[in-house]
Amino acid sequence: MRYPLVIGNWKLNGSTKMINTFIPTLLKKLSKIKKYNLVIAPPFVYLYQIQNLLADSIAKLGAQNVDINSFGAFTGEISAEILKDIGAKYIIIGHSERRNNHRESNKIIAKKFALLKAKNLIPVLCIGESKIENQAEATQRICAKQLDAILKTSGNKAFENTVIAYEPLWAIGNGKSAIPEEVQKVHKFIRNYITQKDANSAKKVIIQYGGSVNPTNAAQLFKQPDIDGALVGAASLKVDELVAIVKAAVDAKQN
Ligand code: PGA
Repeated sequence: MRYPLVIGNWKLNGSTKMINTFIPTLLKKLSKIKKYNLVIAPPFVYLYQIQNLLADSIAKLGAQNVDINSFGAFTGEISAEILKDIGAKYIIIGHSERRNNHRESNKIIAKKFALLKAKNLIPVLCIGESKIENQAEATQRICAKQLDAILKTSGNKAFENTVIAYEPLWAIGNGKSAIPEEVQKVHKFIRNYITQKDANSAKKVIIQYGGSVNPTNAAQLFKQPDIDGALVGAASLKVDELVAIVKAAVDAKQN
C-alpha cells in the first residue's frame, strides 16, 4: 500500500533565523498526528541545521540536487556521499528548473538516479511537459521519454523504492494547479508505463504531483487513486499551508 508523501522543495529560500522558528513550529503543529510522510528539502547549506531540528521527529531530510561525481576536483558540487553523510534521504533530481537553467539532460539525470540508488538514497525524479508540449498533446510522449532514460540506464526494476514527481511546467509557481482529474490520467499513464516493465515496482512507486499545490487544492488532488502526495514549492515555505497539505495527505489515506 502506498502512503502519500509530501516534500517541501524550498528552492533558493530560507535563512538560519527563519529555520529556527519554522521547523519547531511545524513539528509542534503536526505533533498530534502519529503517522505522516514529510520531507523538507532546503538549500544545501541548511541541511545540517534542519537535520538537527528534525532529529526527534518522523519528518525526513531531503536535498534539491546531487552531482554525478563522487569526490575530487569538482568545485561547487555536492556528492551523494556527502548527502548521505549529512542524513539526507530523498534527493530531488531532474527538476525542470535544473533541466532548463542548467541544461541537465535526460542522460545526466539518469546517471544521478543510478548513483543515488547505488548509495541507498531515494531519488525523487521530476518529469513533466512544457505548455507548448501540453498544447500539442505530447504529455505522454514527453513523460515516456523521461522515464525511458532511467529504465535504459537502471533496468526494468529502476523505480523500485523511488519517487516520481509529475510536474507540468506550466503549473509550477503560478498558483494555477493542473486539474486533479487530468493529473490522475497522467499518473495512471506513468504507472501503466512502468507496469509494462515491472508490475511490482509500478504498484509501489510513489507518484507525486507538483505545481502550485496549496491547502485549497491538495485534498482534491490526493483523492485521486494514483496521486501519492505532492512536491510543494511556494506553499512549503508557509508553515500553516504546509501543515494543511500534510493533513490533507493524512486524511486522504484514512478515507
Ligand atoms: P510550486 O513549485 O509549488 O511553487 O508550484 C513546485 C515545484 O517546482 O517543485
